[in-house]
Amino acid sequence: MKLWRIPENGSESPEARAAITEAGELLGTGGIVAFPTETVYGLGCDAANTEAVERVFAAKGRPSDNPLIVHIADERQLEPIVKPYSGTAAKLMAAFWPGPLTIVLPALEGAVSPRVTAGLDTVAVRMPAHETALKLIAAAGCPIAAPSANRSGRPSPTRAEHVQEDLESRIDGLVDGGPAAVGLESTVVEVSEGCIRILRPGSVTAEELAAAGGCEVVEQDEGAAGERSGQPEAPRSPGMKYTHYAPAGSMTLVAGEPEAVSGYIMKEAAMAAAEGRRTGILVYEEHAAAYEADAVLVLGSLGRPADAARTLYDALRTFDKLGIEEIWAEACPQEGIGAALMNRLTKAAGGRLIQV
Ligand code: TXA
Ligand code: MG
Repeated sequence: MKLWRIPENGSESPEARAAITEAGELLGTGGIVAFPTETVYGLGCDAANTEAVERVFAAKGRPSDNPLIVHIADERQLEPIVKPYSGTAAKLMAAFWPGPLTIVLPALEGAVSPRVTAGLDTVAVRMPAHETALKLIAAAGCPIAAPSANRSGRPSPTRAEHVQEDLESRIDGLVDGGPAAVGLESTVVEVSEGCIRILRPGSVTAEELAAAGGCEVVEQDEGAAGERSGQPEAPRSPGMKYTHYAPAGSMTLVAGEPEAVSGYIMKEAAMAAAEGRRTGILVYEEHAAAYEADAVLVLGSLGRPADAARTLYDALRTFDKLGIEEIWAEACPQEGIGAALMNRLTKAAGGRLIQV
């Protein structure tokens, strides 16, 4: 695997330009290359090259019925891959691109590999708000299909080292652009005239979508709904039906008043420790002093949910590295990006949420 390092805010230096040109050429000629975006690292390939797309699925160990997001560097790359779309979708592009919003659009047949869309008649598209990513896609000269650059079932990578841990020997290249600014995957929406449906929550919130689209927003995690009811019914965003973001240890999310939460967690952790299991706790800075375990990791401050979002996946990976077998996490306030954070925490916990 070829590794390029791009200094943060330094994609203009001659070394960085040479690196981006080289990595872009590799992508344009069928290589699979991991690269930074503002949300998480992606594992990219030419979206029209079925062989390259198949290598991406194989490297990740990803189920083939889970479609990929196509990343574009400018709107001229959109027209050749989609059919006419709604005015609401156009409003969202104008408001949030480049940025952490993925829009599911009607696909033009044959424009991207059928492996990218997993046979659906739609294609998910996003324009990342990341200098290096945009330059890399432009250098490749084609739309880039890219899932998150983790092994399937592992937390998404927010740093280049996470990509190395999971995929080093399985991919052709890695562009290291430093830690991801957002830290959670993009908001995924499906849009029809007059209605926006959130398939995966992210840092672009329901309120922001309603304001920009001027219409109703439905928040629906169909995969989770399917899991709860045990319904085999096809989810709209196929990826949501799989267990995701899971640390190796078993995790429980605990909600309630801070004293009740810490009381519950400390009692459970003491029991687990007495039985010889390694314990980990994921907490907010404000409550950290109340906890003791083999690993107490601080997610951030309650007042700055964006910090917690940026830290979450790194913390989950740290628990794994420390061999933690049982993890408890404080639930977080659901405002702003907090909703997306709770969504990922709930998935990491396999749905185990306890109200105390
Ligand atoms: O922030 C992100 O979105 C990152 C970076 C790399 O851009 N990418 C990412 O990709 O998270 P991935 O493959 O891990 O998640 C893509 C999600 C999956 O839940 C997938 O099912 C959904 O998008 N998706 C892709 N194409 C779709 C389509 N045509 N219709 C509905 N959902 C789709
Ligand atoms: Mg993923």
